[in-house]
This record gives sequence, C-alpha cells and structure tokens, in this order.
Amino acid sequence: MSALSRRHLVTMAAGIAAAAAVPRAVFAQAPAAAPAAAPAAAGPFVLPPLTYPTNALEPHIDAKTMEIHHGKHHAAYVANLNNVAKTNPQLTDSAILNVLGNLNALNDDIKFAVRNNLGGHANHTMFWEIMAPNGGKPEGEVLAAIDKDLGGMEKFQNDFNAAGGRQFGSGWVFVTVAKDGKLAIETRPNQDNPMMDGKRALMGNDVWEHAYYLNYQNRRADYLKAWWNTVNWAKIAERYAAAKAGTLGA
Ligand SMILES: [Fe+2]
Repeated sequence: MSALSRRHLVTMAAGIAAAAAVPRAVFAQAPAAAPAAAPAAAGPFVLPPLTYPTNALEPHIDAKTMEIHHGKHHAAYVANLNNVAKTNPQLTDSAILNVLGNLNALNDDIKFAVRNNLGGHANHTMFWEIMAPNGGKPEGEVLAAIDKDLGGMEKFQNDFNAAGGRQFGSGWVFVTVAKDGKLAIETRPNQDNPMMDGKRALMGNDVWEHAYYLNYQNRRADYLKAWWNTVNWAKIAERYAAAKAGTLGA
C-alpha cells in the first residue's frame, strides 16, 4: 500500500469513526522516485506527486498528456480549493468523504466550487493511484466480483468502455463498490464522484477530453480501449479490500 493510501485511509477512517475535526494535509504523499513537477503547496490541499514517471504509461497515455493533466489540470483543482479554503477554513475540518457526502451542508457561495474542485481532486487522486506501468491482471476477490457482478472481464471491459463512450461531454466512468463488495458500472458528469451520493469508487477512467485529446483527438473509444493497459490491479485489490472493511475514502 502506498503512503498515499495509508495516510488517506487513516484519514478517512478517522473521519468516519469520529466525525471529528481532523486537520489534514490532504492527499499528502511520500516523494516518488521520479515524480512529475508539482507546484509548491499554497494551502492545506496538496497535489499528490505521481508515483511513476510521466512517460511510464506510454504508448497508451503519452508523457505530455500526463504532464498537463497532472501538473496543470489537477493542480488547478488543488489551487482553486486552496483559494476557497482561505476564507472557508472549515473545509479542512472534516475528511473529503464527509464534505463530498454532504455538499448541501455548504454555503451556496462555495457549494459549486467545492463540488467541482474537491470532486476533481478526489477523482484525479484515485485516477493516478489506480494506474501504473505493468499493472498486472485482476485476481482473487476482485476477479471473483468481476465475474459475479459484471459478467467477467470481457463483458466488464466492453460495458465500461461503452458507458465511458456514452458519457456526454465531460465526466467519468466508474466501477462503484458496495460495503458487501458488490460492483457496478456507473458514470458521473463533470467532476462528480460516487461519494456525493454515498457510494465509493473502486476505480474509474477520466473521459474529459483533457485526458486523451493530445494523442487520441476525438477518438475517445480508442483511448478507453488502450487505457486498460495502464490499470494497476494490485492497487485496485487494495481498494476493494478497503471498501469491504469500510475504510475506502476516495
Ligand atoms: Fe482529468
């Protein structure tokens, strides 16, 4: 388990168990061997460094796309969050899971910004985590759940790609995981996250054009198909176990 996961899961567990005001260096992570350049932190929300080089997922995802996606797009969500937090320090008083799960509790003047930027921060942090070069294959409980709930790997991949292709405009295609381990394919628009309606994402793919346009242009279907070569199944197995233990945060 990565430092990101350990810290994040601990944070999430604390937030769930105590619903306490736990100060967080959000998604802080130990430096990677070859991380992408990240801007200096300017607030409580932190861009997690990649745990692999930006060219590690080539040819499926090119280095330039990774640099811009992580270092510009995700960094912008973090910067926006830190701007909101300057005048709304209560944003960091509870875990991301609790904030996203209770967006209606926020004042109207920040609700939209938090939904988009904290959702984007959570989505992208998950996204970097569940990818890796040479990510292996699904096995054990995850594979059994894919077989049981999603009709096996071939049907799962076809259905996931089809759902990602149908998502109009920008958004995400997720596999959600219930506390009992049951899986489902679901999409969300923009930077919405299943945590916003009490669910958890086991994994997901970003179908915003910024995720693929440099290399694939309008060929989203080709990106969706190639993306499977980047999936980190060991990390997904960790997330599956965490979901069943009730400790999966983002
Ligand atoms: Fe993205």
